[in-house]
Parts: sequence; C-alpha cells; structure tokens
Amino acid sequence: YSLNDRTTFGVRATAEAWTEAQTTGELMEAVKTAKERGWPLHILGGGSNVILMSRVPGLVLHPVFHGIRKEDEKDGSTLVIAGASEALDKLVRTSIEWGLGGLENLAAIPGTVAGAVVQNAGAYGLEIAERLAWCRALNTETGEERVFTTEDCDFGYRSSFFKSDAGKPFIILEAAFRLPVRWTPVIAYKELALAFEGMPSDAVAPAAVEAKVREIRAAKLPDPRETGSAGSFFKNPVVTKLKARELITLHPSLVTYPLAGGRAKLAAGWLIDAAGLKGYAEEKVGIWPRHALILVNRGGATGEDVLRFAHEVRDRVERRFGVELEPEPVIMGGSWDD
Ligand code: EPU
Repeated sequence: YSLNDRTTFGVRATAEAWTEAQTTGELMEAVKTAKERGWPLHILGGGSNVILMSRVPGLVLHPVFHGIRKEDEKDGSTLVIAGASEALDKLVRTSIEWGLGGLENLAAIPGTVAGAVVQNAGAYGLEIAERLAWCRALNTETGEERVFTTEDCDFGYRSSFFKSDAGKPFIILEAAFRLPVRWTPVIAYKELALAFEGMPSDAVAPAAVEAKVREIRAAKLPDPRETGSAGSFFKNPVVTKLKARELITLHPSLVTYPLAGGRAKLAAGWLIDAAGLKGYAEEKVGIWPRHALILVNRGGATGEDVLRFAHEVRDRVERRFGVELEPEPVIMGGSWDD
C-alpha cells in the first residue's frame, strides 16, 4: 500500500497493510487483525510529524474521527471539542470564527488534533497542554474508553503520556480545549511582542494575533503545499547549568531559554546555523535556507535518506558544540539510533 501522499515530508514509502477506522469497533477490529497476523501496528494521523521508512512493516491504521462542537461551562468558559482527525488549524479557525480566543497562537500548525495532543504541539508562546481540558481515548488492550485530564496526559516539552510505552495502547478519539473566560493575548514571544508593541492588550483581538502568527510562519517556514517537511526536525536540546554556562561563554550570541534549576533549553536552529549548515543540501534532502531547524524534501527522498542526512547534521553539531540533537518526528518502521 502506497504511503507516498500520507506525510507532509512526502517521503516515498509503502506499508505492508493499511486500514481506516471511523468507529471504535473498527479500531478494535484493526488491532485484532494486527495481533492475529503478528503485525506491528502503527497509527498514522495527519502525517505532519512522521518520517516513514521506505517499507513500513505491519499495519498502518488511519483513524477518521471528525466533528467540532462547543459547550458552555458553568464558570463562563467555553470548551471546544474536536474529533481526533480534525486538522488542528481548522479548530483554530473555527473557534476564532465563533468569537472565541485562546488557540490563535497555534494557527497554521500542520497535523491533526490528536497528533497535536500526543506531541504537545506548541508555537509562539502557547502549548496544547495549556489549553487542553481533557481528551478521550480508546485502550486497545481492553477495548475500554478512558477520559484523560490534563494532568493524566503528563505533558512535557513536545511529549505526553501518549508518547510513552504505557501510553502506546491508547488511541485518542477526541479532545476538548478550554478557552479562557476573559481572553488576554499571549504575545511575549519576541516577534509578537514587537508587532503589538505599544498597544493596550484590550485593543488586540484574537484574529489579529492569528494573522500575525500566520505571517511569521509564512516568512520563516516552507509552504507545506510546495515543500515537504516535518516542521522543526530536531527538538531544542536541554542542557545542564554547567554546560549552558560554558557554551554561553564561548558563544555569547547563543539563544537559550532558562529552565528550572539553572538548566537551559538551547535553540537547535541557532546551533545548526552556527555550525554553518543553514541551506546545506544534498541531492534529495536539505536544510531550509530560511530556518536551520527545518529539514526539507528536495524531491524523491526516502525516510532512509532523511535519517542519513539528519545523522550527519546531528554529528556535526555534536562535534562543534558537544550537544546531541534528537529528532522531533516519530520514525515509523525504523528507529533513530544508528
Ligand atoms: N535561529 C537561528 N538560525 C536559524 C533559525 C533560528 O539562529 O536558522 C535562532 C533564532 O534567531 C531564534 C532562535 O533560534 O532566536 C529560535 O528560533 P525560532 O524562534 O524560530 O524558534 P525555534 O526554537 O526554532 C520553536 C518550535 C517551533 C515553533 C517556534 C515558535 C521546537 C523544536 N520548535 O522553534 O515548532 O513554531 O518555536 O514558537 O520547539 C515544530 O515543533 O515543528 C515547530 C515548528
């Protein structure tokens, strides 16, 4: 089964088997089939954060759960509830059309609602974790559904319970986001702060923040309709206080984000850029000339090509700065460690 058009990176790949599921019954059916045949089971949603190896062994399961609705809460806040397979960006647009602010910073992130929950997607000062109220998921081992609170989801930077081994048996069916009773713009992120400088925050509307976010993204990131990529390819690495100090002394322009206990998150884009790799390209895979954290498909790439290239980038950054980069996307049908 061809997976060529199933991921935003656009790698060429085939799956041993493929199935779609629109009900929990169909999901359980697929799980059963995989078990009977001894196939590994992979869940593939919007494909925006996945690198597929050219032959994915086992069954690829594509859940199809749609619908967006809202519910008013007693405290005056509103929940917007979306099926797992809805595009996150459609949820952002819909909530703003309904006059509800709170998700606008997440505009133009590719992928589905469920995908965004699994990896705690975030951008421009806001993470899914900050808005999620609950999500409902199917435990494929028992066939039971369970509601997860934000706490149950155990969110971290680009991670959640659903990415852990214990979370693997769960397939998210829908997710609810709580929008603030009294909305205030989240505009501390540098480029947003600049754009709205001097404006009282009650003069800033959700749609204005949304528009600005789309503009910033369009300027830096490749247009997903034209160039295949998986967004940021590497996570921003977290280092110890000691390592951060040492690097800042050697490289005063290094961009860092302080964390609790003196540790720091480093801008991986800065590291790759400073290693001289921005715009560096091989025949099929390259680094986006306008943002060093984005690996792009230059045409005809396979997952193996992407991994080889990414390992090269990791190795060069490691040699230069002594920091090890780790990939953000899921590697399906293979693994990152070489
Ligand atoms: N930088 C460079 N050279 C580059 C790119 C970046 O020096 O080529 C420097 C920038 O000057 C900036 C810093 O690195 O000071 C950080 O760059 P940016 O603000 O673009 O953000 P990022 O840390 O690279 C993260 C997320 C993005 C998210 C943006 C905005 C990760 C891995 N990436 O990128 O998320 O959109 O912040 O909040 O955390 C994604 O996860 O796929 C993604 C696109």
